[in-house]
Formats: sequence, structure tokens, C-alpha cells
Amino acid sequence: MDPSSYQLPVRMLVVLGVVVHLLLVASIFDIHFQTPVVRGLDPVWPTMEAPAQRLVIFVADGLRADKFFEIGAQRHRAGEAFLHTIARERGRWGVSHARPPTESRPGHVAILGGFYEDPSAITKGWQANPVEFDHILNRSSAAWGIGSPDIVPLFTKGIAHASGAMYSVELQDFSSAALAQLDVWAFDRLEDLLRRAGLSAPPADPLDSDDPWRDLPVGTELDHRLRQSGVVIFLHLLGLDSNGHAYRPSSEEYLANIAIVDEGVARTERLVQEFFGDNKTAFIFTADHGMSNKGSHGDGSPDNTETPLLSWGAGSDHHPISDREAGFHQHVDGCPARGPTPPEWLLDHAMRMDVDQADIAPLAASLLGRPIPLNSVGLLPTAYLNLPLPAMAEAMLANARQLLAQVARKAEVAATSCISSALHFAPYSPLANSTEQLLQTRDLLQSGVLTRLPERGATSHHGASSNPLSPAPSPAPDVRLPCVHRT
Ligand SMILES: *[C@@H]1O[C@H](CO)[C@@H](O)[C@H](O)[C@H]1NC(C)=O
Ligand SMILES: *[C@@H]1O[C@H](CO)[C@@H](O)[C@H](O)[C@H]1NC(C)=O
Ligand SMILES: *[C@@H]1O[C@H](CO)[C@@H](O)[C@H](O)[C@H]1NC(C)=O
Ligand SMILES: [Zn+2]
Repeated sequence: MDPSSYQLPVRMLVVLGVVVHLLLVASIFDIHFQTPVVRGLDPVWPTMEAPAQRLVIFVADGLRADKFFEIGAQRHRAGEAFLHTIARERGRWGVSHARPPTESRPGHVAILGGFYEDPSAITKGWQANPVEFDHILNRSSAAWGIGSPDIVPLFTKGIAHASGAMYSVELQDFSSAALAQLDVWAFDRLEDLLRRAGLSAPPADPLDSDDPWRDLPVGTELDHRLRQSGVVIFLHLLGLDSNGHAYRPSSEEYLANIAIVDEGVARTERLVQEFFGDNKTAFIFTADHGMSNKGSHGDGSPDNTETPLLSWGAGSDHHPISDREAGFHQHVDGCPARGPTPPEWLLDHAMRMDVDQADIAPLAASLLGRPIPLNSVGLLPTAYLNLPLPAMAEAMLANARQLLAQVARKAEVAATSCISSALHFAPYSPLANSTEQLLQTRDLLQSGVLTRLPERGATSHHGASSNPLSPAPSPAPDVRLPCVHRT
């Protein structure tokens, strides 16, 4: 056979093969490396009264759930655990499930912005913001962020009402001893901030370059700013992450650092309560990701994805829920969860309520009565909130409207793009009437339908009654708000 007769088809086949592969490679970037941030959304203000005036949110970087609760239980036996007592007696607790990549930036974006990482951020090494996004500090009336220079500026830079306090990069040096000092530094700066509001004149050296608050006003002006409603104080605690990388999470250093964080949170709560004196502060404690036994993080193993979540203070619930393991996640986005609560956590009698990490953003916004960050995909974890039934319904409605706004906007953008209009874009039909349905729900709520429900409806959410007038809880609650979590 004459070889020249199939020369041309072979060459075409090779060219075609290369073209097809290039198309496939390009499609991966086109499909998966797009920012999930949708533009042109309007904030949805919840209509209920804000349960809290301000929120203090602690993020212990690299704190893994099992170590945290085990150490908490040990300290509890010794009678010195603060956060463990919160979980047992004063607040709600659960495991917050992070998603891979379990890195610092994606974790913080999920906690404060309510969505999972913007994949286009990889081009900037998960550091700077490739696309500006909305988050709870942006939604606050005034915000202060304290912590590492890698994280705090992501949420304070370029926002007029937010200030940040960051230590120098040298302090973060992994080889330095006493990495837990990073956390002590953060707690100290919050104390400085509150003290500054009590000063009548600027401190002795107003240009002290070591004072991260040197640009802030002193005295009454700062005091007013701190006391307005809708304030967020964000503490980023890097010590555990540094100790985990340097010494691994089973080391003395890591475990001692958990105790230092526990004491720091206790001190902060005391300072904040003394300063404001109104019991109107909400507190959230969580972590951005865990830490593997080898001292690394990034993948989807439970060591990395399972982090603690605690909330207490104004607006937070602590009443027992009858269904003890209802909040335990079996699987999270295909990542297996570790299993039911181990008895050595000593939290048997305290209801566990797991969440997906992004659910923390709507929780934070609802505690403050502010709009949920625009691109949040989180579902309000209602079990964490202690609200009268009508207010709870309003908070859930705001969450639903905020989620639907994103669907509607995405459909609008898709419908006008030339490819989809050529392919006859059809909106997702089950949601076709949802805007009207939500408006109807809103009208129904405004007509006061829930305030006319029997009292049982309002208390059954807690399983046991929280109403002092009816000490005997009603039998098995059937009017329940769904405890929103995905399984
Ligand atoms: C931040 O909040 C302001 C309103 O306070 C809003 O105009 C702005 O769009 C928000 N930023 C982002 C990136 O959504
Ligand atoms: C705050 O709560 C504590 C403990 O429940 C209580 O003793 C105190 O009176 C409250 N303070 C205010 C101002 O409500
Ligand atoms: C939406 O409303 C229209 C007209 O009221 C109705 O025909 C249709 O079945 C509804 N669609 C859904 C998904 O409920
Ligand atoms: Zn981290």
C-alpha cells in the first residue's frame, strides 16, 4: 500500500487530537476557575429586632475539633475550662465542617463571607483578594480586626469603617519560641482598644509606631463608635496554626496553646462585658481549618475539615434540645465525618449541632440584625439562635431571600449571555414562583400569624420548655422549626 495515501488523515488526526485536548484543558479553567462572586445584588435587611448589639468572633487558626474538645474536657475535670463550660452550660456547640482546600484564606472567607473559596484566588496564592467580596465586617456599622498580617487585611483593607491591628511578619517566624504569644498579642490589643476609649487624651507618645491603634480617635469619639449597634470585633489567633506546623497537633506546645486561647477568650469576655455592661454582646468561637497529625493542612480528611464552633451571649441559645444527635453530620460534601461525639469530650448531655462552615456567616449576620453577606451560600443554623418564633421566621426569610437573589441574578446573567440564549436558556423551573412565594410568606408574617400561634409553638423549638410559666415541657414537640443543615 502506498504510505502517502494515509499521510494526510494521520496528520489531521494529530492536529484534531491536540485541538480537542486544548479545548478540554481550557474548559476546566472556564468551568472551575471562575469566581463564584455574583455582582449586582442588593442587601436584604432582616426585619426582626437585632438580638445583639455587637459580635466578637474568635477564629483560632488551625484548631482541630477533637483536640480542642479533648483538652477542654481535661481542663474541665481540673475545673478551669472556660470554653468547655460554655458548650456545656451557656451556649450552643457543634462541629463546623470546612471544605478543602483547608487553607486559612478559604476558611476565613467561608466563616465571614459565607461562600467557599474563589478558585481564581489560587493565582494569588490564596493571599490577596483577586475579586472583592462582601463579608460580615463589610456589613457591620464599625469593625475592628486583630491578628496576622496575612488574614486581617483581607477583611479590613479598603473599608472605611474597619480598622486592623496586625503584628509584624517577623513575629510569625515559625522557628521562634513561644508561638502562643501571637494569641496573647491579639487579646492584649483588644484590651488596648477598649482602654483607649476611656482615655481623655492621646497616649503619651501618639506616634508610637508599635501601637496599631495610633490612627484611631481616643475617648468619647471611639467610645461612641464602639457602642453603636452592629459592631464586629474579629480576633484572628494564629498561635495554634504555627505550633501545629512547628510541633504537630499532639505536641505539648499545641495543647498548651489551646489552654492559652481558652484563658484569653475568658479574659476577653470579661473585659467586653465590663466595658459595655449591657449583656448585648454575642460571641462566636471557631477555627478556619484543622491540622493533620503530620502538622499540615489542605486536604479533606476529618483532621483538617472538622473544627469547633461555639456561640454564646446575646441572641444565642443554650436550652437543651431533645434530639441529642440530630445535629451530627454523617457526610459533608462527600468528605466522611469522623463519627458520633466521643464520650471523652464530656459533652454528652449538651446538644451538638453541626454546621457547614459557610453557615456561620448568616448566623453572625442574624445575631447582629444586619444583611447576610451578599454571596453567602450558608443556611442559618437556627438551633444556635434563641429568638421568639416570629423573629426566627423573619431571620429565615431574610436568609431565603438573600439566597434567591443570587439565583435570580445568575439566571439573569446567564440568560443574556450569547451562548445560553442560542441554546434557549430556561430558568430552573422548581424555583419559578419562589419570588412570589417569599413575598407571600413575608405578608403572612407581617400579618402576625406566628404571634397568634399557641405558646407551645414558640418553646417547642428548644425541645424542653424555656418558659418559666410552664415548667413541665409539653410532650414530643411537633411544631418545630427545621434545624437547617444538609446531610
Ligand atoms: C461593602 O459594603 C458596602 C455598603 O456598606 C457596599 O456598597 C459594597 O458593595 C460592599 N462591598 C462588596 C465587595 O460587596
Ligand atoms: C447581665 O447578666 C447578668 C447575669 O445573667 C446579670 O447578673 C446582670 O444583671 C445583667 N446585666 C444587665 C445590665 O442586664
Ligand atoms: C407557578 O405558577 C404558575 C401560575 O400560577 C403555575 O401554573 C405553575 O405550576 C407554578 N410553578 C411551580 C413550579 O409552582
Ligand atoms: Zn489557617
